[in-house]
Amino acid sequence: MYILLMGPPGAGKGTQAEKLIRDYGIPQISTGDMFRAAVKAGTALGIEAKSYMDKGALVPDSVTIGIVKERLQQEDCKKGWILDGFPRNTDQARALDKILKEIGIKLTSVITIKVENKDLIKRICGRMMCKKCGASFHKEFRPPVRENICDNCGSELYQRADDNEATVGQRLAVYESKTKPLIDYYKESGSYCEIDGNQSMEDVYKQIQAALEKASK
Ligand code: AP5
Ligand code: MG
Ligand code: ZN
Repeated sequence: MYILLMGPPGAGKGTQAEKLIRDYGIPQISTGDMFRAAVKAGTALGIEAKSYMDKGALVPDSVTIGIVKERLQQEDCKKGWILDGFPRNTDQARALDKILKEIGIKLTSVITIKVENKDLIKRICGRMMCKKCGASFHKEFRPPVRENICDNCGSELYQRADDNEATVGQRLAVYESKTKPLIDYYKESGSYCEIDGNQSMEDVYKQIQAALEKASK
């Protein structure tokens, strides 16, 4: 199963990817998570990526496309994957088409989770992430059982550097101008579907599963 999980910042891509990993046993490839890992490790990639992420801007394609291409060729990607947060503009989508052609893969499903901006801001500003496994929690909508501790792995939770009201506005604007046009790009492919993200996490997941079932037939 080769899935593109799309949608604006805070729509629930990471939250739904967690469930897909659990049920389908395929890896999540999140460019945002890869950049955050590089920032934490203090690599040259991390230093460059941070300067864009802190502003809510896209990291240049010259960097981003290369890391995705490399990642998709790894052993654990052979039986499928969930791409979360890539592609984010038409040049990345074209590059992905080329990569998929080279490795002989066809996308199973392209799924956009739709949520209104006012709800996205609430989701992002209340989010807490696990330092170790990357799971997302929310102060109100998904509070961890123990305060500030990840339910999955027991590590400490933190707030992302770009999860503040100032940067969120910029991230939403970048989504509108650069990423949203990809909906038309993928609509023509036949494997595209949209899901109302303004439901409980479990109900969103049920609809994703239904879409995947339909797409795999
Ligand atoms: P990235 O990490 O991809 O961030 P994003 O796209 O802004 O998306 P988020 O991770 O914020 O949201 P999500 O949809 O995963 O939501 P989540 O499930 O956590 O990218 C960060 C930065 O990296 C970019 O700004 C850019 O600089 C750079 N970058 C990344 N990819 C790039 C690319 N391809 N090209 C160039 N640059 C790139 O949920 C959010 C919150 O809501 C959580 O607290 C969760 O608990 C809660 N929640 C989830 N679902 C629900 C629900 N149904 N009801 C109530 N609450 C919910
Ligand atoms: Mg995410
Ligand atoms: Zn964890």
